[in-house]
Amino acid sequence: MAALDNHALVAVIGAGAMGAGIAQVAAQAGHPVRLYDNRPGAAAQAIEGIDRQLGRLVEKGRLTPDNRSAIRARLQPIDSLDDLADARLVIEAIVESLPIKQELLRQLEARCADDCILASNTSSLSITSLAAGLRHPQRVIGMHFFNPAPLMALVEVVSGLATAPTLATTLYDTARNWGKQPVHARSTPGFIVNRVARPFYAESLRLLQEGAADCATLDALLRDAGGFRMGAFELTDLIGHDVNYAVTCSVFEAFYGDFRFQPSLVQKELVDAGRLGRKTGQGFYSYADGAERPEPAALTSQAPVEHCTVEGDLGVLQPLVERLRAKGMGITERAGSGLLRVGDATLALSDGRLASQRAREDGLRNLVLLDLALDYASATRLAISHDAECSDEALDQAVALLAQAGLSVCPVADLPGLVVLRTVAMLANEAADAVLQGVGTPGDIDLAMRAGVNYPRGPLAWADGLGVGFTLSVLDNLQRSYGEERYRPSLLLRRTHAEGGRLHG
Ligand code: NAI
Repeated sequence: MAALDNHALVAVIGAGAMGAGIAQVAAQAGHPVRLYDNRPGAAAQAIEGIDRQLGRLVEKGRLTPDNRSAIRARLQPIDSLDDLADARLVIEAIVESLPIKQELLRQLEARCADDCILASNTSSLSITSLAAGLRHPQRVIGMHFFNPAPLMALVEVVSGLATAPTLATTLYDTARNWGKQPVHARSTPGFIVNRVARPFYAESLRLLQEGAADCATLDALLRDAGGFRMGAFELTDLIGHDVNYAVTCSVFEAFYGDFRFQPSLVQKELVDAGRLGRKTGQGFYSYADGAERPEPAALTSQAPVEHCTVEGDLGVLQPLVERLRAKGMGITERAGSGLLRVGDATLALSDGRLASQRAREDGLRNLVLLDLALDYASATRLAISHDAECSDEALDQAVALLAQAGLSVCPVADLPGLVVLRTVAMLANEAADAVLQGVGTPGDIDLAMRAGVNYPRGPLAWADGLGVGFTLSVLDNLQRSYGEERYRPSLLLRRTHAEGGRLHG
């Protein structure tokens, strides 16, 4: 089956934030669209809202006034589901409740043609469950848009157990024609994005709970070293802690309490307090008038540092050496095991062990561990931790060296994997398990994380870049440190490493 003809009638049920956005996308792609909501007047109101959005596009010169009128004319509010006999595709975006959505699908099945596609925009319910009990479960599929639907490129096309494979292809091609970036996903808890993204929030929450650093510092590190658009605290303040916490709880429960998805008491406390984020004026940060965002913690040093020694291959840290060289730093190179020495200090990329543990195990004095950066050539900030016996002078020299490379240096407590490294390792781990379990292809999973939540790099490609073996050892070390199921490495990482292959291909 090819993509839906772009003159085919599309119906959208539920005229809330998502339904209105989806109706706009379909109408902009040329479809006549009928919009239904069981709240009287809501569909017509939503269409007025869409028209205002289109008006803004006209003002910005991104749409002609004629196109605006044509799109507006394609949108029709309807008062009854009886007006759907000619629809070729119905997308429901009503309240997130399994029994209410199942009841709606039963009503649609009684009114729509047998070959009409029934799609759900659900973000957490099983497509298999939604389709169960219908006469034609093979025509039920997930079409999961992201908010705001007109702006966000990603659409997860989600197949349940009974969904016809040709239907997934049709909706994939249709989403493409609508200017979207579709991916295929199997109906499993959280689909791709809401599953693979869990560690992004979970690791920051864990670091905060264990006193690694404050919110502003952890957020700044994910942004300025990790290359993420926002840190986990500012992002969950924006999403709303009630919403974010509910998604985590739903994925956790759906996986029978797998500790990898365990919700955070820190976030629950915010929800309990009604500190839901921006929408209530207070979350991790205050949004009261005049409230100032706290500054990230930073170390400074006046230590005169003119020379350092590179021992062996620094791997992904190498651009940092080039940065130092460009600043006129004297650099001696000699054989060794990937260490950077300055004065009394020894600097190394974290491998997921505690600094104190690594100092003792590897016989290193004054050990300063560096966090991961997306790109050491352009990062503006970096986290460091140090072993308990590191002298103040050595720490000062390490800070001076990094500052000379133009980095703001953020101190974090001696916790395994620092901030960006453990977040990326855990994202890659979750993505690997999703591949292993056939939720999506490596390409689709990486694409989904870039297009759906704006990650700077797909987690699998990121792990490939770091080395699958290195990523695996970070996770092994995290698991050893915590002794928790949560950090268990995916079998796919272990197998790919054993085979000498790559995750992304
Ligand atoms: P919303 O609360 O803004 O809109 C839901 C609309 O559905 C309301 O206008 C309501 O009157 C209507 N409605 C409720 N029951 C109905 C019924 N039985 N028949 C017809 N209309 C009914 O909700 P929102 O945020 O638009 O979410 C809708 C769906 O999209 C949910 O399944 C949600 O999980 C999913 N979703 C939401 C995203 C978001 O960021 N808000 C992102 C992706 C998916």
